[in-house]
Amino acid sequence: MPATDAPEGGMAGGPLISIIVPCYNEAANVAPLVAMLESVMAGRRWEVIFVDDNSPDGTTETICAQARRKSYVRGICRIGRRGLSSAVIEGVLSSSAQVVAVMDGDLQHDESRLIALIDAVAAGTCDIAVGSRHVEGGSNAGLANAWRHALSDSGIWLAQRFLPVRLTDPMSGFFALRRDTFVAIAPHLSGAGFKILLDLLLSSRKPLTVREIDCGFKPRVAGESKLDAVVMLQFAALLVEKVSRGLVPLRFVAFCAVGLAGIVANLGVMHLVWLCGVHFSTAQAIGTIAAMVVNFSLDNNFTYRDRRLHGRRCVWGLVLFMLVCSVGALADVGVAHLMYAQSYRVNEASLAGAVLAVVWNYAMSSTIVWRT
Ligand code: GDD
Ligand code: MN
Repeated sequence: MPATDAPEGGMAGGPLISIIVPCYNEAANVAPLVAMLESVMAGRRWEVIFVDDNSPDGTTETICAQARRKSYVRGICRIGRRGLSSAVIEGVLSSSAQVVAVMDGDLQHDESRLIALIDAVAAGTCDIAVGSRHVEGGSNAGLANAWRHALSDSGIWLAQRFLPVRLTDPMSGFFALRRDTFVAIAPHLSGAGFKILLDLLLSSRKPLTVREIDCGFKPRVAGESKLDAVVMLQFAALLVEKVSRGLVPLRFVAFCAVGLAGIVANLGVMHLVWLCGVHFSTAQAIGTIAAMVVNFSLDNNFTYRDRRLHGRRCVWGLVLFMLVCSVGALADVGVAHLMYAQSYRVNEASLAGAVLAVVWNYAMSSTIVWRT
């Protein structure tokens, strides 16, 4: 009998398997998923842990309603945070089971393959068992359209360039591993974006042995996908962070990209105002303020999406951000001036000033404006 089987079933002695389900706006899918799990997990000591980011559609209440009646249903509700990967990390860390499995909360993953994933890990045949749509018997039919297929295929191709192990479906969000394996990797995880499996494989200090198990991917029936342009950028930034061995953190990549957009905004607004006959220095000042507002709003929505400021805190954040950037700009000019005076070339002096300002702005933004 596998170590994760229980003669009594249910929860006697505590769960040996935790199924971690990240969910955002999945109210209609919670009860059907629990019913499916009850059926496939019958006879096992298991629990399901939903990790919801305070969804506005009542997902939390639906989870609570289930949890009140069923001891094997648990929920974590995070306020002011967003993100699939970080939700999974918190779910796993809240578990005390031997084996954890991760699956989506929208019924797209084929629950009938769950036991195969769990047993592959419990039997010790691999460190991590992955539900794959691209091994024989697997299927990717549930992807919404040709665009999603192309996106998924190119993501897989790209990820495979950097992976230390061979894997046909590194973009999968359906997998199982021992909890202690996950916990050992947890301090090194990036935790941003959607790709927690990829994050685990790229962050592990020792190569993990992987077994792929064929699985289907069903079409979404209720609710909608949360994959958007930001999630795609987070995927690219995750690869950059991991490939550079953490030297270039994911947030810094996003911060710099937003900074470039700010430069475009600065130049655009400055030119417009200047063309209206305003004096150049005033036009430049207006352009700079516009760039700060654009940068703040992009950073608030993308770079620091998981710590997004709302309402009054957003206004206060903008004021702080402008102060931080102003100090950055002063430091930029000061350092460039000093270096130029010490007979460095104009370009070198200017670049050093700009780099200092970007690093300063980034460090201060992360610790003061969007502090955790
Ligand atoms: N807590 C939380 N917070 N959950 C989230 C968030 C979030 O910010 N964003 C998405 N989720 C949950 C969804 O509610 C769903 O249960 C699951 O994560 C997957 O999100 P979808 O928005 O349905 O993603 P998808 O179908 O586009 O992509 C999924 O399929 C891929 C395979 O192509 C993801 O699961 C990927 O991990 C998977 O590899
Ligand atoms: Mn989905």
